[in-house]
Amino acid sequence: MASPKVTVIGLGYLGATHAAAMAELGFEVLGLDVVPEKIEQLRQGLPPMYEPGLGDLLRAHVAGVEGASGRLRFTDSWEELADFGDVHFLCVNTPQKHGEYACDMSYVDAALDSLAPHLDRPALVVGKSTVPVGSAERLAERLAELAPARREVELAWNPEFLREGFAVHDTLHPDRLVAGVRSEWAEELLREVYARPIAEGSPFVVTDYPTAELVKTSANSFLATKISFINAMAEVCETAGGDVVKLAEAIGHDERIGRKFLRAGIGFGGGCLPKDIRAFMARAGELGASEALTFLREVDSINMRRRGQMVELTRQAVGGTLLGKRIGVLGATFKPDSDDVRDSPALNVAGQLQLQGAQVTVYDPKGMENARALFPTLGYAPTAVDAARGADVLLHLTEWRDFKELDPAELGEVVSVRSLLDGRNTLDHELWRKAGWTFRALGRPTL
Ligand code: UDX
Repeated sequence: MASPKVTVIGLGYLGATHAAAMAELGFEVLGLDVVPEKIEQLRQGLPPMYEPGLGDLLRAHVAGVEGASGRLRFTDSWEELADFGDVHFLCVNTPQKHGEYACDMSYVDAALDSLAPHLDRPALVVGKSTVPVGSAERLAERLAELAPARREVELAWNPEFLREGFAVHDTLHPDRLVAGVRSEWAEELLREVYARPIAEGSPFVVTDYPTAELVKTSANSFLATKISFINAMAEVCETAGGDVVKLAEAIGHDERIGRKFLRAGIGFGGGCLPKDIRAFMARAGELGASEALTFLREVDSINMRRRGQMVELTRQAVGGTLLGKRIGVLGATFKPDSDDVRDSPALNVAGQLQLQGAQVTVYDPKGMENARALFPTLGYAPTAVDAARGADVLLHLTEWRDFKELDPAELGEVVSVRSLLDGRNTLDHELWRKAGWTFRALGRPTL
């Protein structure tokens, strides 16, 4: 039998990577997005965002790019998409609703409503977006109502766990695949699509719809809880005079706890963890199970408090008032190896400092354009050294490798005061001290 043809709907962080990865796995792929500029960019083999390795993958497969396999094409026509595909991946975003905790399903609903009326032959629609539990059931009903092929069209739920910065690797070599399905046909089709990762050893877990939806939200809740746990320990260390970095190292040697995701600092941000735990709480409330997730409210507030604590530490470092003080900020993105500034703790801290009267200058290796669009009133500098120039204090807020490699002596020449605050606990304090800097970090009062 011929290989199934794959379509990808929504070409953002998730969809663009998924489309390129499917082409890399050998499938003919057609991608659709409702933003015409995104399609134009992708047609030239250019990624819509910074993601290591994605540009190479697009150039290797986008039709029309010299030397490419030609397996990856893009369209804005739903009709063409439905005609082409056997498996349709829904990869649109599900942001937090304005002014509410709940998740905004309007993009998912609109995508399904646009696709379904064109489905007049057997097809599998596969949801990858992060959605409130119960959505797949509702969408399956809608699909059955709208698709001319009726029972020959089915829905599956296949959540995505990729991390920004490692998206290509995580998509090609997933640590697990989860398939919420209602028939053997759907399961077999997904096994065929993922045959290569499965052959490489990725576990393939088959579930019902609600479990598949919950795997995603509970995994993100666990990760958020782990980070807030260590940040709560940082708060205690700050009052008790302990060192949270040593503490994390020591408890991490216990295999049951593990060392990963125990890095204390200004906390988690990005397009996933914060909105996913909030949407999960909102959904649990609707289902009458809010008590089960009240701890997530605490996870969220511990996380948000760390941003405030960073502002306080900065205020102390500049002598009690931020008014008129010059502050250099290293980092704007929510994590390194990404240009994503959505709910970025770094930008949030920079913004708070400026609102309290400081003059803030930010530098980030890849996030400048997005940061400027979101916070146009902050100062921006073309290099780390320029951001540090004249600063009364320098803040390290995103743990880019570039910042680890900075020369404290060189930066010491341009700042007004050699004072560094590490909000990510990844810089080598001894190196900075040797170059004459005062070095302070969250959760490490003994430094
Ligand atoms: C996350 C999940 O990891 C991924 O599986 C899911 O599919 C999407 O959401 P991502 O948003 O790319 O991925 O970021 P992640 O690597 O989880 O980091 C989230 C935030 O936590 C970042 O702001 C990061 O700086 C912060 N973090 C992470 C910490 O503060 N401490 C840590 O120890 C780890």
